[in-house]
Formats: sequence, structure tokens, C-alpha cells
Amino acid sequence: MDQKALFKVHMPLSVNEPLLEVLHSGFIGQGEKVREFEEKLGAYFGNRNVLSLNSGTSGLHLALRLANVGYGDEVISTPMTAVATNMPILAAGAKVVWADINPKTGLIDARSIEEKITPKTKAIIMVHFGGIPCDIDEINRIAKKYSIKTIEDGAHAIGAEYKEMKIGNHSDFVMFSLQAIKHVTTVDGGLLLCKKKSDFERGKLLRWYGIDREVKRKDFRLEEEILEYGYKYHMNDICATIGIEQLKYIDDIVGKHIENQRFYDEALKDIAGVNVIVKPTCSTSSSWLYTLHVDNRDSFSSWMSEQGIIASRVHERMDIHAAFKESKCDLPGVDAFNTSQVSIPVGWWITDADRKYIVAKIKEFSSLFY
Ligand SMILES: Cc1ncc(COP(=O)(O)O)c(C=O)c1O
Repeated sequence: MDQKALFKVHMPLSVNEPLLEVLHSGFIGQGEKVREFEEKLGAYFGNRNVLSLNSGTSGLHLALRLANVGYGDEVISTPMTAVATNMPILAAGAKVVWADINPKTGLIDARSIEEKITPKTKAIIMVHFGGIPCDIDEINRIAKKYSIKTIEDGAHAIGAEYKEMKIGNHSDFVMFSLQAIKHVTTVDGGLLLCKKKSDFERGKLLRWYGIDREVKRKDFRLEEEILEYGYKYHMNDICATIGIEQLKYIDDIVGKHIENQRFYDEALKDIAGVNVIVKPTCSTSSSWLYTLHVDNRDSFSSWMSEQGIIASRVHERMDIHAAFKESKCDLPGVDAFNTSQVSIPVGWWITDADRKYIVAKIKEFSSLFY
């Protein structure tokens, strides 16, 4: 049976020709294609301060560095996310402080954030889980009150909108992931968008050892001063070439995710034992995931699998891991969300016939078990 998958790699055949050309061009590092990709991304987001990177994880690490987070500092974040969201906090030498989440949406709760702020708090990371934007304005209002930087983990949220503006424009830093199974992929890759030009300029240096690649040199020798240590986090021309091609499809891809999400919102709203997430009206989710709450989650997943449909949790709470043992605390919202959350296929590959089949099977499950 053809399985209805949760994820699929989008790789158009039209990438073959430009990719082969760059591959054999004699220049495959960070060059003209990276510049072109960033220019196109700037136009897409409506924010020119775009840094292309080798991963989203690097983007979060770079954002924390640009926010001057270091040893002894605290960063408030959510445990209901990928491991990649919170590892960079540890890598920066800071302590992770968990805020609770809304038990229905899975999004970090602004009130809980404010309760967790201490004089050591330097930054807040908010994750747009599944592509649903967090309460960005309220979180930024709180952050401003305490002079704290905000970082959006938009790994799931490329193409999402908040108050009629694309995600990528609201906070000090916004990260996107271009890893294999995201809406658009460069195989691996990430983006960091900065609000301030000065952060963007510093980030451009720090993604490549603190060295300015745009300086014209007489020979290969490094003649300028390196002002502070940096990383090797830049994107290369191979990934950028794939990215340039992918961008041509982004509206189509995100549009299909959203169309499927709206279909499910309507079709699944009155089914016993199954609760859809009611999305905030001030935003549009990029619908990377379609997450439901089902009380009988494990039976639901097994039953759906027998029908050829993958229905699974995508992220497990991160606070259960020994790596985060210093951060343990009570999180009733996370407890509630995590016991019933389950995601069903929603992506661009799900056809009208697929989504009708999926809805029919969910109804059948409900009539059998409730
Ligand atoms: C929520 C979240 N944050 C961060 C990342 C990290 O992105 P990358 O894999 O590009 O490093 C991911 C990737 O899967 C993610 O899902």
C-alpha cells in the first residue's frame, strides 16, 4: 500500500542543470550563488538582512552569540521542540530555563516567560511549532521591558505570516532551517534574519571566522585584523544553487500545505475524541505539521498506520534528557500537550483524494473507539 507520509523531500528536476554547471565550474565555495540566493531571499522576506548558513542550528548559535549570550547567562525557551532549538544554548555556555507552553497549541506561553525572567536572562527563544506563529508581539513587549533579545526559531515556519507580515521581520533574530524535509531545502542549510543592520554585518563576519570575505586582497594572505573569533557556518554555492531553484516553488509549496490545513480544520472539527488546534486569527500558519490532539493517541497511531497513514509525534519534550537536567521544573502545559499531540500528513504531496481518505479514516477510528 502507498503510505501517506508525514514528510517528503521536494527536489525539482529543474535543479539538475544549474547544479551540474556549478559543480563543475571550478568554484563551489561561498561565492556568487550565495550572494544571488541571499538577494532573492531578501526580496522574498522583505528583510534584506539575510545570512545564509550551513544549518538552522548554526543560525541559532550565531543568534545567541550576536545577542551576547555567554557563560552564566540564562536563556528562556520551550522544551516542546526539536533537540536543535536548545543545544545551541548549552553550546553558548548558558543555562536553559524552561517556560511552559499553551496545552492546546504547543506554543510558548508569554505569561510563563515573564515569570521565569531573572537578572541573568539574556534572550528568549520562541518556536513556531508546526508553523503556527507564537504570540510574537506580546513576547517582544515583555522582552523590551526587561532589555532582553528575542530569537524566533522559524524552522517550521517559512512562509508563515504574523499580523500580515511574513515571519522574518518581527524579532531581533529569526532562524529558518533548509534541512532535507523542510518546505524548501538546500539539502542542509539555514538562514538567520536580523532586525538590525549592525547585527547582520557582525553576523556576516562571524559566520566565517570573523574575517571579511568581501575585502579585495592582493594575494591569499590575510592582512586585516580579526576582531573576534568566529565560526565556519557559511553556506556554499552548491547549496545556494539548489536554494535559488527551490525558491521558485515556495509559494506553491507553502500554499498547498495551507490549503490542506484549512481542509482538515473544517473536516475534523466535530469528531469525538479528536481535537483540532484552533489557530490564532492574527496569523497564518505555514502548516509544516498538522497536529491534532487524540486522547487515545497510541492506538490512533497504530490504527492509522494499518490504514497506510503515518500519524506520529514529531518532537518529544526535551526536558526529559540528562543534558538538560539542571533545568528541570514543573510544566503542566507541556505534560498536557505531549500526552495527546499527534501529527498527520498535510504536505504538498497530499492530494485531494489523499486528504479525503485521511479524514474518512479518522472518522472511522472515532466511531470505533468513542
Ligand atoms: C524546531 C527546529 N528547530 C531547529 C532545527 C534545526 O535546523 P537544522 O536541522 O537546519 O539545523 C530544526 C530542524 O529540524 C527544527 O525542527
